[in-house]
Amino acid sequence: MSDIKDPEVLLEVINLKKYFDVKIGLGRKNYVKAVEDISFKIHKGETFGLVGESGCGKTTLGRSIIRLIEPTSGKIIYDGDVIFDGDKRKNINMTAYRRKMQIIFQDPSASLDPRMTVGEIIGEALDVHKLFQGKLERKKRIDFLLDRVGLNTEHANRYPHEFSGGQQQRIGIARALAVEPEFIVCDEPISALDVSIQSQIVNMLEDMQEELGLTYLFIAHDLSVVRHISTRIGVMYLGNMVELGDSNEIYHNPLHPYTQTLLSAVPVPDPEVNRNTHRIILEGDVPSPINPPTGCRFHTRCPYAKDICKEKIPEWKEIEPNHFAACHIL
Ligand SMILES: Nc1ncnc2c1ncn2[C@@H]1O[C@H](COP(=O)(O)OP(=O)(O)OP(=O)(O)O)[C@@H](O)[C@H]1O
Ligand SMILES: [Mg+2]
Repeated sequence: MSDIKDPEVLLEVINLKKYFDVKIGLGRKNYVKAVEDISFKIHKGETFGLVGESGCGKTTLGRSIIRLIEPTSGKIIYDGDVIFDGDKRKNINMTAYRRKMQIIFQDPSASLDPRMTVGEIIGEALDVHKLFQGKLERKKRIDFLLDRVGLNTEHANRYPHEFSGGQQQRIGIARALAVEPEFIVCDEPISALDVSIQSQIVNMLEDMQEELGLTYLFIAHDLSVVRHISTRIGVMYLGNMVELGDSNEIYHNPLHPYTQTLLSAVPVPDPEVNRNTHRIILEGDVPSPINPPTGCRFHTRCPYAKDICKEKIPEWKEIEPNHFAACHIL
């Protein structure tokens, strides 16, 4: 059921799928099933953490929900407006939503055009959405944004390669902020950065969220990164959402065997509370999303798998209040 009238919900994703075509020779095609039947909601003002191993589809999901890539099927509702409907393909004018929904990329150097100065990069975003009147206001706005992300106004005339990774990510953040967005997909914004500056960037994103009332989808490989900053967390495995719940619940009371294995890989500083006494080691590699396992996609690596897990796709269920999982043994 859709909750389009719920004022708490900013974004609702219903049965979203994204398949990529891949050529397998002799004119034949196959599909990478990168996102498979995912439904969830993001609440206004929250940070929704999205975690899972490399290749599980986090970036594809993040880019699909802001329609940076075109979903294959499903439905996306943003603040009560349907912005994608796989059943009723019609041209939805995305201009207004493009401004409201922004993204910060994982690799800042690859996401900034090397031929443009920093001022041009930020200015371009302002130009697209005509967010200023006259040159002076445009310059003032660029200076304000540079200052806001901890850079100098003189930096406007320099090129991206003249900056460190952390500074490049600040430029990426200024570009995202330029258009006064409401919702930002933060796609592993710190994973390419030195550990020493990761917390500066996270703190800055948190300050901006509070100041500007932003909503985040924060993508990370690892639960330890999102645990403290997320209101709720969704866990992905091979294109599926396998568990979703409040951040503390996911951390202290993980229900899905995959979440339990992810958590058992998180180092705990105090040996007295080391959860790794029950450390679960996953066997085998992540299967290919071109030919994913039948039934529960996790069954080939799940320590608790039963016959039904090979045969039937597990239902997405509310196991405890506001705590969802897809698993036959729950
Ligand atoms: N344009 C594309 N064409 C074909 N396959 C793709 C494309 N983009 C992604 N994929 C595949 O889709 C799957 C999901 O990729 P995605 O980048 O979304 O994963 P991810 O969870 O973000 O991984 P990482 O943590 O490494 O960033 C992978 O198997 C990937 O190879
Ligand atoms: Mg990714």
